[in-house]
Amino acid sequence: VAHTPKDISLYIHWPFCKAKCPYCDFNSHVREGVDHGAWQAALLAELAYWQARLRGRRLTSIFLGGGTPSLMPPALVAALIEAARAGWTVCDDVEITLEANPTSVEAGSFAGFRQAGVNRLSMGAQSLRPERLAFLGREHSVEEAKAALNVAFQHFDRVSFDLIYTTPGQSLAEWQEELREAIAMGVDHLSLYQLTIEPGTAFYQQHRRKLWELPEDELAAALYEVTQDITAAAGLPSYEISNHAAPGQESRHNLAYWQAADWVGIGPGAFGRWIETGQHGEMLRLESRTLRSPERWLNAVQTQGHGVEGWQQESRAEYLEEMLFSGLRLVEGIERKKLEDWAEKPWEFLIPPTLWHELVSEGWMEATASHIRASTKGRMILNRLLEELLAALVV
Ligand SMILES: C[S@@+](CC[C@H](N)C(=O)[O-])C[C@H]1O[C@@H](n2cnc3c(N)ncnc32)[C@H](O)[C@@H]1O
Ligand code: SF4
Repeated sequence: VAHTPKDISLYIHWPFCKAKCPYCDFNSHVREGVDHGAWQAALLAELAYWQARLRGRRLTSIFLGGGTPSLMPPALVAALIEAARAGWTVCDDVEITLEANPTSVEAGSFAGFRQAGVNRLSMGAQSLRPERLAFLGREHSVEEAKAALNVAFQHFDRVSFDLIYTTPGQSLAEWQEELREAIAMGVDHLSLYQLTIEPGTAFYQQHRRKLWELPEDELAAALYEVTQDITAAAGLPSYEISNHAAPGQESRHNLAYWQAADWVGIGPGAFGRWIETGQHGEMLRLESRTLRSPERWLNAVQTQGHGVEGWQQESRAEYLEEMLFSGLRLVEGIERKKLEDWAEKPWEFLIPPTLWHELVSEGWMEATASHIRASTKGRMILNRLLEELLAALVV
């Protein structure tokens, strides 16, 4: 019997930024003089650790995220990609994404990233309006973002754009115009995030002190709806709550998360989740988490070969919850067979029938022969839906 290698995705976290944005609670830090040699050695060591642990996997995607990975020297990116390819088999159309901030300095590295093997660029434009970029505390101007995008198009077939909307004072008309402008630039993928106020950020304090206010719920909902309509009309329909793509241009790496597939994460604060066969042939869903502090992570890798701080085994219920939690973000929903195989019972026995009938007849949820999904209107209240579903899950 031919052995089909199990697929795996690789996330690489680069924790450094030139400045900390006031809304951002990602594991990102401003540091003078990063020792690139030491970081390259440590990331390579941690990758080797995983390749030894999860042998014989087939790599389907790599995502270099951050922080600001476009600040990495292209040679460092090349070394990581080369090592990833050497230690695992690689599928022909492997997707290799790098997150780039659109400043001119970083655009200067785009050719080098392409040379290194990156084949998809995700650009953190955030806004095409100068006053909104200023509010968001970004280092780049609208002109710089557009110039960087043009450089990106010269080197990459696949380019995505991040925009943040639902910012203070934003009107429907203003956002519609900005979004149309972004689409007209010719990207095949858009990540459109409603601004969220994260504890521990500068925005959290400003918002608490009422220095500004977010748009009311009703306007926020209207902004979300026009976003769905405009992107769909332009041939970039949403495939996930905040992500829109031309058919076939979905981010394969992010799909791996939402489909609760297998991935490993290296670098400070990275998570991994994957399925392994246990000693008695049982399937185990495992999770790893590395140290968040860049210095402590580096030190740990240098002394013990990896920066993993915590391990966890998800129970059957927890993995089912993970599938629902991430899968219902997707427009296509959750693959029914995967859910039922893991649950060892049909979907109909996983949710109390009265609740399910109510959710379906009210139009929040839908079931097809192959998938369980939230409807368009259900995705707008996904957190509430999930709360009800998870509380009622019969495992
Ligand atoms: C890891 S971050 C940043 C990547 C890159 N360093 C950049 O800033 O362009 C990925 C994306 O998350 C989004 N994001 C981060 N914090 C957010 C927040 N509080 N609300 C909404 N979107 C946020 C931004 O659009 C950002 O581009
Ligand atoms: S949004 Fe991007 S550039 Fe800004 S602090 Fe977060 S990771 Fe760094």
